[in-house]
Amino acid sequence: MNRRTVITGIGHFTPPRVVTNFDLEKVMDTSDEWIRQRSGIVERHHVDPGVGSAELAYEAAVRAISDAGIEPGDIDFIIAATLSPDHYFPGNGVIVQARLGLETVGALDVRNQCSGFIYALSVGDQYIRAGAYKKILLVASEVQSTNLDYSDDGRDMSVLFGDGGGAVILEPNESGDGRGILSTHLFSDGRFVSDLWMEKPSCKDKPTFRESFIAEKKFFAHMDGKNVFKNACQRMPEAVMAGLEHNGLSVDDIDFLIPHQANDRISQMVARGLKIPVEKVIRNIERYGNTTSASIPIALDEAVKDGRIRRGHLIALTAFGSGYTWASAFIRW
Ligand code: UT7
Repeated sequence: MNRRTVITGIGHFTPPRVVTNFDLEKVMDTSDEWIRQRSGIVERHHVDPGVGSAELAYEAAVRAISDAGIEPGDIDFIIAATLSPDHYFPGNGVIVQARLGLETVGALDVRNQCSGFIYALSVGDQYIRAGAYKKILLVASEVQSTNLDYSDDGRDMSVLFGDGGGAVILEPNESGDGRGILSTHLFSDGRFVSDLWMEKPSCKDKPTFRESFIAEKKFFAHMDGKNVFKNACQRMPEAVMAGLEHNGLSVDDIDFLIPHQANDRISQMVARGLKIPVEKVIRNIERYGNTTSASIPIALDEAVKDGRIRRGHLIALTAFGSGYTWASAFIRW
């Protein structure tokens, strides 16, 4: 079969409110110097009260739809990735669907945290190549700022994360010109669930919501930063190598690598591990922090719109995060 999945439109949206490291210095025991040195982050965006990740997804979707030159009514399937949905259930997919005025189009929710965009891309790619759908909207968005611990206890996490959304339109390419998704590679290791998680609420507990969980701060995300860091630096290069091998390509064939923006030191270590010049690595964490599932589509959109990524380029995406889950995708742009 000669059909490939091509990204025909892309967009992103971040809420207008910018929170700098200096702003965070005012509320907790941290410093601009520490945050920059340890993560490369200078500022991030936070939503105003009442704005959820489905709204950020909607805004990104509108931009991607316009970029693809299609109408919302042309979309025949939606995939929504997030770890910070508007509601415990239902997921964001149906909320985006209703916001776009799409009556009965199917909406699938993906929960794979920082790897969510690549996992969702992989699902969309299978549907398009199988001929099941012709215009899939994939949104990946997060609102982290509403549930971070801004006391000194939570400073290792709260300085890292930001809010934002990205979206792509996936369509079949049957022209035989080779453009599109070459392959996706998905991995996980559930032994490390508690290395990066939000433990509560849990449906294992009766009652699910307890005062004691609030007192113990179980409703905040917790991370074993060092372990996550170490595994991220190892797993992302492995995932990229798996994709190169699968496609019979070498590291030199990659025009741009877009790693999930978790920490600029991780992105640089991944580049070093793969022996890819750092100029070929798209890095924007400085301005957004870690936007989890949204980080790759935001970085991709910026690099496409500013002309760095051009038609014919080979793009490698890779992500690592909570689960652990990790992944890579290869796209001939
Ligand atoms: O999205 C996917 C998942 N996320 C990641 O991939 C993130 C992975 N981990 C990391 O990026 C890094 O581990 C961090 C940025 C979270 C931490 O960097 P680190 O170099 O591993 O620092 P550390 O945890 O060893 O902390 C060093 C010190 C500690 O103080 P002591 O014990 O040495 O006195 C921390 O208490 O820095 C302290 N610290 C802070 N100081 C100022 C932790 N957070 C902060 C803070 N401001 N915000």
